[in-house]
Amino acid sequence: MVLRVLLLLLGLQAAIVSPTVDAKGHGHSYRVVAANKLQPKPVCSALRVTPPSNRTWLPLYHRNGPCAAAPVVHSARTTILGRDQDRADAIQRALSNNSTVSTELGIALGLGTLEYVVAVGLGTPPVRQTVLIDTGSDLSWVQCRPCHLPRCHRQRDALFDPSKSSTYSPLPCGSPACARLSARNGCSRSNRCRYIVNYGDGSNTTGTYSSDTLTVNPSDVVPNFRFGCSHAETGFPDADRTDGLLGLGGDAQSLVTQAGKSAFSYCLPATASDTGFFTLGVPNISSSRFAVTPLYRSAQSATFYFVILQAITVAGRRLDVPRSVFSAGAVMDSGTIITRLPPPAYRALRAAFRAEVIKMYPPAPAAGILDTCFNLTGVPNIRVPRVALVFDRGVAVDLHPSGIIQYGCLAFASNRGNRSAGIIGNVQQRTLEVLYDVAGGAVGFRRGAC
Ligand SMILES: *[C@@H]1O[C@H](CO)[C@@H](O)[C@H](O)[C@H]1NC(C)=O
Ligand SMILES: *[C@@H]1O[C@H](CO)[C@@H](O)[C@H](O)[C@H]1NC(C)=O
Ligand SMILES: *[C@@H]1O[C@H](CO)[C@@H](O)[C@H](O)[C@H]1NC(C)=O
Ligand SMILES: *[C@@H]1O[C@H](CO)[C@@H](O)[C@H](O)[C@H]1NC(C)=O
Ligand SMILES: *[C@@H]1O[C@H](CO)[C@@H](O)[C@H](O)[C@H]1NC(C)=O
Ligand SMILES: *[C@@H]1O[C@H](CO)[C@@H](O)[C@H](O)[C@H]1NC(C)=O
Ligand SMILES: *[C@@H]1O[C@H](CO)[C@@H](O)[C@H](O)[C@H]1NC(C)=O
Repeated sequence: MVLRVLLLLLGLQAAIVSPTVDAKGHGHSYRVVAANKLQPKPVCSALRVTPPSNRTWLPLYHRNGPCAAAPVVHSARTTILGRDQDRADAIQRALSNNSTVSTELGIALGLGTLEYVVAVGLGTPPVRQTVLIDTGSDLSWVQCRPCHLPRCHRQRDALFDPSKSSTYSPLPCGSPACARLSARNGCSRSNRCRYIVNYGDGSNTTGTYSSDTLTVNPSDVVPNFRFGCSHAETGFPDADRTDGLLGLGGDAQSLVTQAGKSAFSYCLPATASDTGFFTLGVPNISSSRFAVTPLYRSAQSATFYFVILQAITVAGRRLDVPRSVFSAGAVMDSGTIITRLPPPAYRALRAAFRAEVIKMYPPAPAAGILDTCFNLTGVPNIRVPRVALVFDRGVAVDLHPSGIIQYGCLAFASNRGNRSAGIIGNVQQRTLEVLYDVAGGAVGFRRGAC
């Protein structure tokens, strides 16, 4: 405990010392960050900042970090970035007219890149279930007994056992909720509604569409929450031990819609050993502390939440990119890792960023979709040019250094086509509280929230 407090104090001191001014005094151009602050530690760090409200927040962790107490899986970065491209492609297919991932269940993008988990209680009495959060899908599910290997996967918590919950019920085939699933979902011999989700990356889950009490936390209990009780799935990432998925999209099956909440928010931590948070409902914090931009929806999909970029600044200078380049909008996504930009915007960002960094660090080979990399070997304190995303209504959001550099590379990539929507990936969202005010039609950003 004493050691933990000491480490925390040292950490805070480093944080106070590090956001400094560069040698020429250009304090607005760079932030200096200790290289080890961008790397996960072997032990979990608690939330560093007082959470927004004592009411409804849940700790949120990276699924492979020490906080989630799952085995640490070191996938190769090319594997991770390859899966990320699959997810970005699935989003863009879903938004094009020749969609194959858009189903009656809403969008289902794939499980491969989902990274952040929360623990909720399911059933009566509540049983802890650690689930991936996903703003890119709607239907929630957990593995339920019976669930045999290898059709199911080993999981972190006890398998949810419907027979032990006094509030569980399988939804009958004739129920309206079952009828809203697609015809392909069908009926079991015992008149139970069968659901199937086929994700865009080829993974799938199937079982009984059910309802039970969901305890997000003691003050947010959702009775008759509809979810999939999974008895088989395919393509779940190797060695992942999470119990299921919590769908946070905008369609009818999502937690947000079912709970009748007008908003939710999360803060994704800087590294896999730091703690973030998730809140359901409008956070108990002055709205003036959020930078707020309009939230848009698409006729192609009720699932996604869109924002519109206007501009990008690098080291305080606005890139010379016309606003019209961003007109397809950008999907705010918890599950895509790297932000995708329209090609002209990406090219301008890359040129400006490279011009700043190349004065300090030698280039390094590209890594998958990341083509702007630097050799940071042995650099104890990294100078990261400031990058801000300027959203609709002129809302500028200054990114944390952990939201700019990943794997020693500029953590942005280009879309293939000029007309595709962009994606605001989870790397760029790190340390910001991102508020999805669904009823109010706004997305808010609050800096330094975790
Ligand atoms: C929130 O905190 C305040 C003061 O710290 C306390 O009076 C109140 O009971 C807390 N509410 C809940 C729901 O814990
Ligand atoms: C739509 O379908 C056409 C023809 O099958 C294909 O060439 C094109 O890439 C598809 N568009 C998207 C965005 O997937
Ligand atoms: C899809 O089709 C609609 C009209 O049917 C059109 O307005 C829209 O631009 C098309 N979207 C794409 C991405 O091609
Ligand atoms: C799930 O995917 C596997 C492998 O692609 C396939 O064999 C299986 O039929 C699929 N299950 C369902 C219910 O679609
Ligand atoms: C919200 O916060 C204010 C002060 O920060 C407190 O007085 C109020 O009780 C809180 N409301 C809830 C629901 O926690
Ligand atoms: C990075 O720089 C170090 C020494 O500064 C060197 O040993 C190493 O080979 C370089 N790596 C690459 C990929 O260029
Ligand atoms: C994409 O946009 C750029 C700049 O606006 C333009 O030069 C280029 O021709 C466009 N490409 C296509 C395929 O439309």
